[in-house]
Amino acid sequence: METSILSGIEASKALYSSLEGRISNLKNHGITPGLAAVLVGNNPASEIYVKNKTKKFEALGLKTDLFRLNEDVSEKELLSLIEKLNFDDDIHGILVQLPLPKHIDSEKVLNAIVPTKDVDGFHPENAGLLSIGKPRFIPCTPKGMMFILKHFNIDLNGKHVVVIGRSNIVGRPISILTSLKELGNATVTLCHSGTKDLKYHSKQADVLVAALGSPEFVDASFIKDGVCILDVGINRIERNGKSKIVGDVNQKSVSGKASSLTPVPKGVGPMTIAMLVENTCLLYTSPSPRDRG
Ligand code: GUN
Repeated sequence: METSILSGIEASKALYSSLEGRISNLKNHGITPGLAAVLVGNNPASEIYVKNKTKKFEALGLKTDLFRLNEDVSEKELLSLIEKLNFDDDIHGILVQLPLPKHIDSEKVLNAIVPTKDVDGFHPENAGLLSIGKPRFIPCTPKGMMFILKHFNIDLNGKHVVVIGRSNIVGRPISILTSLKELGNATVTLCHSGTKDLKYHSKQADVLVAALGSPEFVDASFIKDGVCILDVGINRIERNGKSKIVGDVNQKSVSGKASSLTPVPKGVGPMTIAMLVENTCLLYTSPSPRDRG
């Protein structure tokens, strides 16, 4: 079987072409959607992610402010920066790149972002809305994955989606999104580190989501013929003395058995950035915390 490649570059181009019209419309009304990106410490992967995100915003003529804080910044200082951004009317979306250093309580920080500027959709109010089937701001990576499926006409209705990984960033929200009647209507199994006989479950999948953060973990022995695979992993490994980015799927091993898969790089990654742009454009209409009473 030939495995078709679900290109995130191609899908993101389709989204950008609709966003460009929306952005110029907003600009004609004197509105420039603005993102504040907060990067704490020197995590090399986070540096690259944030650089790619801000570069895209600049290329689209959007406002982006990068706040770099030292690894040893106190939780109090970080919380007071967020409070300031919450009340800054030129900032529509606030992104705090994860992971944060260990001495900082990530949950407390994410909860401090006013839900109407929560571009990542990680605030409990937005996560709660998603979990009751009323999504408002959806986390960028799962939202981008749903866009890829739609763009390549992969219908989820009645299919079995198996998700490996239960993170709040990807695994849990994609399991909810794909199960929602209006968006996917799939039957969903959410697997995690406590799952017994993972292969039993993964082999049932019509659509398999690999979001466990383990380089090339999923190989041909985990899948049935004809599965569609969404590979969410971005892992840096050393191979033959060279540094390389690989996903959570051994792409060589599954090629010829899967019907389609998202490559790494150039699969889900570009869609995360495109959805960050879309969410920022959506957020500009949200009320300021001053108006929330
Ligand atoms: N770290 C890994 N993925 C993400 C993401 O989508 N948003 C943020 N803020 N941090 C991340």
